[in-house]
Formats: sequence, structure tokens, C-alpha cells
Amino acid sequence: MTQEPRSQVLAGLEGVVAATSTICFIDGKEGRLLYRGYDIADLAEKATFEEVCYLLWYGELPTGSQLQALREQLNASRALPEEILTLLRLFPKEAAPMDILRTAVSALGVIDPQASENSAEANLNKAIRLTAQIPAIIAAFDRIRRGEEPIPPKEELAHAANFLYMLKGKESDPLSARAFDVALILHADHELNASTFSGRVTASTLSDMHSAVTSAIGTLKGPLHGGANEQVMKMLLEIATPERTEAYVMGMLAQKRRIPGFGHRVYRTEDPRAKFLRRLSRDLGEQAGELKWWEITRKVEEIAFREKGLYPNVDLYSASTYFYMGIPMDLFTPIFAISRISGWTAHILEQYADNRLIRPLSEYVGPTRREFIPLEQR
Ligand code: SDX
Repeated sequence: MTQEPRSQVLAGLEGVVAATSTICFIDGKEGRLLYRGYDIADLAEKATFEEVCYLLWYGELPTGSQLQALREQLNASRALPEEILTLLRLFPKEAAPMDILRTAVSALGVIDPQASENSAEANLNKAIRLTAQIPAIIAAFDRIRRGEEPIPPKEELAHAANFLYMLKGKESDPLSARAFDVALILHADHELNASTFSGRVTASTLSDMHSAVTSAIGTLKGPLHGGANEQVMKMLLEIATPERTEAYVMGMLAQKRRIPGFGHRVYRTEDPRAKFLRRLSRDLGEQAGELKWWEITRKVEEIAFREKGLYPNVDLYSASTYFYMGIPMDLFTPIFAISRISGWTAHILEQYADNRLIRPLSEYVGPTRREFIPLEQR
């Protein structure tokens, strides 16, 4: 059996251009990130997460009235359906929040009023509903697993502040509310990262929006991708003091262990998002009067660069940033999904708009044609 040799397999599809898109541009060499042509620095400093959601979905920053309309749509969808609250109460309290989120979003695909509709308008409505529902699911599950009642959202609060309110039952200080809003902006989209690609592959079969987002959530969970921020915090807690950092990190490197929060498939210099999160972590640490988590992270960063020329990625400082806000560690990756649902759904909408089934090839290296041996002779 002969097979034409196929092009060389690129492990992990490294460097493979798998789609054209107008949503996100990454310059891995220069460390630049644009959403619909706007630099992440401008968006992080001057926009709100709701404006960035609108930008990703519609391609333009909203006017005042368009933003107000989006805020009203998000408010109208934050209250979770009773079926979802019942489901959250059924799950074991020690279940992993990313598993809870993946299952609850899949369940929303059963009861969503437009579940079976695949029009652009229906899918945009689903994108907005999911963007409102995902924070509510995460906050509600955290309350339920603590034996407390879910807290209904406050209409007057913005999206980021509402999540912190539903999680804690009290309004956050202004620095934490703005820091969380900026963190959501920074995580909103990132071209064809693994979870976004996973969502686009699912959408390319013309499966529904909820199935595509469920695929993306399952993909984000992995520690090589969105799961890294929780691993970073676990590492910081194990290090415990700035003085222990050198020995700990050198030990990791000696064991050839990957240091979570470092390295990137695309960036060959510092991830432009890390700069903002480093600053947010320091500001929150100063406000908390406990800079050590930021100090330990800075030391890890110095050693990783000195020993392996590694740069931080988005996960390195998001860990201490969320920790300073008093957010439980196992909610760090679900928070990544609170933000990335905007990018995922923008890419899924783009896939539907100009679709072709995504179906690559593999280089077959298995046995050639073999003769079948009947069972009695085996
Ligand atoms: C995200 O794609 C995206 O855009 C993702 C993301 C997004 O916004 O969606 O940016 C979010 O997922 C960020 C990445 C979070 N993951 C981690 O922090 C986990 C630790 N990082 C690594 O596992 C790694 O850097 C990856 C998975 C992120 C990228 O891996 P690659 O591109 O496959 O690179 P590689 O594994 O081939 O490593 C190249 C070299 C190797 O050295 P050698 O063995 O050739 O000597 O760099 C080394 C690696 O050992 N290396 C690391 C390292 N990352 C790379 N060494 C130690 N620690 C690390 N973290």
C-alpha cells in the first residue's frame, strides 16, 4: 500500500495558518496584541470589558446608546434558569469548577430559547446570554459549595464588578473592581489559541453555539493552556517566601519541570498582557499590605529569564492578581472563561459566517496492509 508522502507534520500545528480572521492580531516577535485593530494597551487603559465584548462581536467600539443596550441585554440574562441552579445543587461540592462550568454550559444548550436556531442573530443573542450566564454560574456554584445561597446580580453594577459581588456578597473596592475589569479585557481574545480553535472546529461542522463553547471550555481547562494560572498560584504558595524562591525554581528546572506562567507558542518576547497584570498585582498587593506574592513572582520571573530566557505569559501575574482579590484558586481558570467567552463566540460567529469544514490530514506511520487471521487461529 503506497501513500503519497504528505507535507511534513508540524507538531502541535506550530506555525500553521489555519484560518483568516479580522478579530485578533498577534505580533509574536514584537509582543503586540490588537483586537479588531485596537492595541491592547489602549483597551486596557481606556475601555471597559463590555466595550471590548461589543468590539469583538460587532467589529466596532460601541456608541453610548449601543453600550447601554448591551448592558441591558447582559442584565436581562444574568439570572440563571431554575434548571441550572437545580443542577448546581445536585453536583458534589468538591467538583472541579471547570467541570461544573463545562457541564452547566452544555445544559444551557438544552434549555436555551434559541438552542435549535443557527442564524447569525440567534447566535449573537446566545453569545450575549452566555457572556452574562457564565459569571453567574461560577459565582452561584461557589456559594452553593460553601452551603450558602446564590446572590442575585445588582443591575447597577458593571459586568466585572457584578461577578465579584455575586461571588462575595458585597461590593468590591474600586481598585479591585477596575483591576478585574482590566483582567477580563486582557483575557478576552487571543487569535487561534487552543480553546478558540477547538470552538471553531466544532462550529465548522455547523454544530450549535453551546456545543462549540463546551468544546472550548474543555480545552481551556488544560494546564498547558488556561489551567496554568491556578498552577502558578499553587507554585507561589509552595515557595511561600521570597528567600525560598531561588532554590525552588532551580529545583524545578533541574527536574525539567515546566514553570507555569512562562513560555508561549507565539510570543518570542514578553506577552504584552503580562505588563498590565504585573502592575495590577503590585497595586493590589500594596493595597492588601502583602506584597510578597508579587515579590516572589518577580523573583521567579528573573530566574526563569536568567536560566532559560523564558518570558512571562498572561497566566503568571493573573494568579497573584486574583489571589489578592480573595478569589479561590480553583476559580482562576473559570475566570479565564468569563473573559474568553467573548473571544470564543466572536470566532464562532466568524466561522459560521464563512464556513468550510475544518478537517486536516495525518501522516500515517502505522503498519502496512496486514492479512486477517481468523479468531480460532490467533
Ligand atoms: C495560555 O496560545 C495562546 O494564545 C494561549 C494563551 C491565550 O491567551 O489563549 O496565551 C493562554 O495558554 C498561555 C500559556 C499558559 N501555559 C503555561 O504557562 C504552561 C507552561 N508553558 C509551557 O508548557 C509552554 O510554554 C507552552 C505550552 C505554553 C508553549 O509550548 P510550546 O510552544 O510547545 O513550546 P515547547 O514546549 O516546545 O518549549 C520550547 C522550549 C523547550 O525547551 P527545550 O526542551 O527545547 O530545551 O522552551 C522550554 C521547553 O522546555 N519551555 C519551558 C517552558 N515553556 C517552554 N521550560 C520551562 N518552563 C516553561 N514554562
